[in-house]
Amino acid sequence: MQKMGTDLKKAISLLQSGQAVAIPTETVYGLAANALMPEAVAQIFELKQRPAFDPLIIHLADNTNLNRYVRETGPFFDKLYQAFSPGPITYILPKKDLIPDLVTAGHPTVGLRFPGHPMALDLLKSLDFPLAAPSANLFGKVSPTSAQHVADQFGEGLEYILDGGKCKVGLESTIIDLSQNDPIVLRLGGLSLEEIEDVLDKKVAFTKSSSSNPKAPGMLSAHYSPGIPLCHGSLNQNLEKVNRQRTGSISFCKKVAGIPDKNQRVLSPNGDLKEAASKLFAALRSFDEAEIDVIIASEFPQEGLGRAINDRLRRASVS
Ligand code: TXA
Ligand code: MG
Repeated sequence: MQKMGTDLKKAISLLQSGQAVAIPTETVYGLAANALMPEAVAQIFELKQRPAFDPLIIHLADNTNLNRYVRETGPFFDKLYQAFSPGPITYILPKKDLIPDLVTAGHPTVGLRFPGHPMALDLLKSLDFPLAAPSANLFGKVSPTSAQHVADQFGEGLEYILDGGKCKVGLESTIIDLSQNDPIVLRLGGLSLEEIEDVLDKKVAFTKSSSSNPKAPGMLSAHYSPGIPLCHGSLNQNLEKVNRQRTGSISFCKKVAGIPDKNQRVLSPNGDLKEAASKLFAALRSFDEAEIDVIIASEFPQEGLGRAINDRLRRASVS
């Protein structure tokens, strides 16, 4: 049976019957199911081997039925929605009872995202329920940015993967908590802190949650593991420790001296952080088959999407 394709009708009927389907978004692929049906949501946790304390975000086509799902949107939501949705941002807002506790892991808030991918939007417009969808990877592993990445991880376990091509953004959405007095970014992602601050015309805090009681467990250290030890930081120091012939490198715009070309991943020769972000996860995966013992990754510029790239590399690293 064909497991991967562009058959929207098939995806719709599977989702309507309570099954999980992998879907494309502009950030990363999601593992989606009817957010209002706990049995469907339970499948996501099972397939992903995700702990039930880790809440899921829900995906909507637009803000028309928002008051069915959230109690209030507060003073910042409208501005951000106008500027960035659909797009790579997730809003945390106080939830209404219609959203099952399983989705939010018992939290009184729910994450809402309006994805920018045309296929995801078509799908959401055809459904009369929102889709709960975490990134379509096994818990703790690198998020998928193509349909094939999803197939590689889930194989036969998944009924259908809707193929929308490569994800343009390539990093998960930026999560902003709007349930408190002041907006707080909980996860840096496809939208930069600077862009958010520009629109709100104020400084916005970025708080990493503690790993004992994570607000966004995607923030746990030892997440995004590529399966091969990765060292992030000063290239020169790391180069001293490794056998360069058996090392892979991830760098921004320049090659790394002494590493064989086939093991080099230069993410953007022109120095474009957006391009680099879109290629990061595919680069991490591309080492799966490489004959290397270690990956060394440089520090990216700590601005714009470079901050999110550094964040993911730090989490992927061994120490
Ligand atoms: O770009 C994305 O956001 C992708 C695509 C598929 O939409 N989704 C995604 O979902 O990255 P996931 O589950 O892999 O990451 C969502 C993060 C998790 O770390 C979760 O803990 C956090 O959002 N989260 C969800 N609901 C939350 C809530 N109510 N409060 C705080 N954090 C929440
Ligand atoms: Mg994830």
